Amino acid sequence: MLEKQSLELLGSALEILEQGFDTLPVPSAPPSDGKRLAAVMNEVAVRLQDNYPYFHPQYAGQMLKPPHPIARAAYALATWINPNNHALDGGRASSQMEKEAVAWIAAMFGWREYLGHLCGGGTMANLEALWVAGQLHPGKKILASDQAHYTHSRISSVLGLPFAAVPTDNRGRMDIAALCTVLKAGDVGCVVATAGTTGTGSVDSMPEILRLREQYGFRLHMDAAYGGYFSLAGNLAPHARASFDLIGKADSIVIDPHKHGLQPYGCGCVLFRDAGVGTIYKHESPYTYFTSSELHLGEISLECSRPGAVAVALWATMRLLPLVRGGEFAMMLENSREAAVQFHRRLTQDPRWLVPFAPELDIVVWAPRARSASQISAHSQRIFDAAAKHGLHLALIRLPIRFFAQSPEPFEPDHDTVLCLRSVLMKPEHLAWLPRLWQILSRAADEAAKQ
Ligand SMILES: Cc1ncc(COP(=O)(O)O)c(C=O)c1O
Repeated sequence: MLEKQSLELLGSALEILEQGFDTLPVPSAPPSDGKRLAAVMNEVAVRLQDNYPYFHPQYAGQMLKPPHPIARAAYALATWINPNNHALDGGRASSQMEKEAVAWIAAMFGWREYLGHLCGGGTMANLEALWVAGQLHPGKKILASDQAHYTHSRISSVLGLPFAAVPTDNRGRMDIAALCTVLKAGDVGCVVATAGTTGTGSVDSMPEILRLREQYGFRLHMDAAYGGYFSLAGNLAPHARASFDLIGKADSIVIDPHKHGLQPYGCGCVLFRDAGVGTIYKHESPYTYFTSSELHLGEISLECSRPGAVAVALWATMRLLPLVRGGEFAMMLENSREAAVQFHRRLTQDPRWLVPFAPELDIVVWAPRARSASQISAHSQRIFDAAAKHGLHLALIRLPIRFFAQSPEPFEPDHDTVLCLRSVLMKPEHLAWLPRLWQILSRAADEAAKQ
């Protein structure tokens, strides 16, 4: 059941890699006791069995999907060299591959001139973007919606910058009237817009936010950590499409190849529209920048050592699956999006469920019908547990009850929030597996109703 093609790819590529160093004298290998290695490795395999099946289409809970086989093989291959992309001295080929991979991502947003690099993930990438915003607008406020990732308020506090959360509308998008009110105080340095919130996949309205930027002159940072690759999808609804088409107008963008980009964890990316912000990073390294006057990636990133293997895996994946509309990679995202649309349709046509709003990307939230918010919450938990027993792994999310304002069947608002079910249908196989997922969900709902 687990993909093994990457092992074959790795074996033959390793031979080729070795040929590049065959003029060197062969060092004597340290003694290794194969039996002990195998014993520990087998123990590791057993330990790793203690996981939800993140790789399987019946796992539709959190934002988890397996890396592409080429990413897995390329990452592993690079570890034989173990390059460090801090400096060209430590990772020549992989630094070049990082620059090319980042250029492909920037081109997806229409950027040819920019500054950008990979980093550990969305949190680190957002940290760099907000750090730059803080350097350019010292002491001014950072704003993000109350559905934005928690990282923005936390990062602001790390950076010593004031932060305020802007309320969202009933679809989980930043409320533009509320944003206007906050901006009037004149103390905002940066607004964070989100293209695909973590909880509900909601997309903040770029056209309106950009109009406000003209009026108030703040810096606009786009957190597209989750949603960014949906720029390539041809089946977004008009609101999301309009916002995605304007992502390139932001001052900085974060996108996570380790979410929708088929990469192993440890791969985030930050991009700045104005390459001039590179001067903010400026520092001297007495240790590492010796072999070339070309740009060392460490000169434009906050982290020092960074795994070159990450860049190699990303480069290989995009070489195989270029970031183009209508291409194989774009079709994977379209499948995920279509799975969410079809799943949402099934839910709205079934009287057992309440659905707050249609998905904008591939994340669906819904809840079982009941008389009060607290009963809905209890019931969601029971369904979540019953589904897991039958091998369907969903997620739970607590949402404000106002998200259900349009609900045809109101419930008693005995709490401000309600526990809902949530599915991230981010694997391309989810579309074909939808009938099976639905069957298990229905069974779980029937069982939970009898409890
Ligand atoms: C919109 C958004 N921003 C930022 C992050 C943080 O990214 P990471 O977990 O890679 O640090 C996430 C993670 O889910 C996210 O969904």
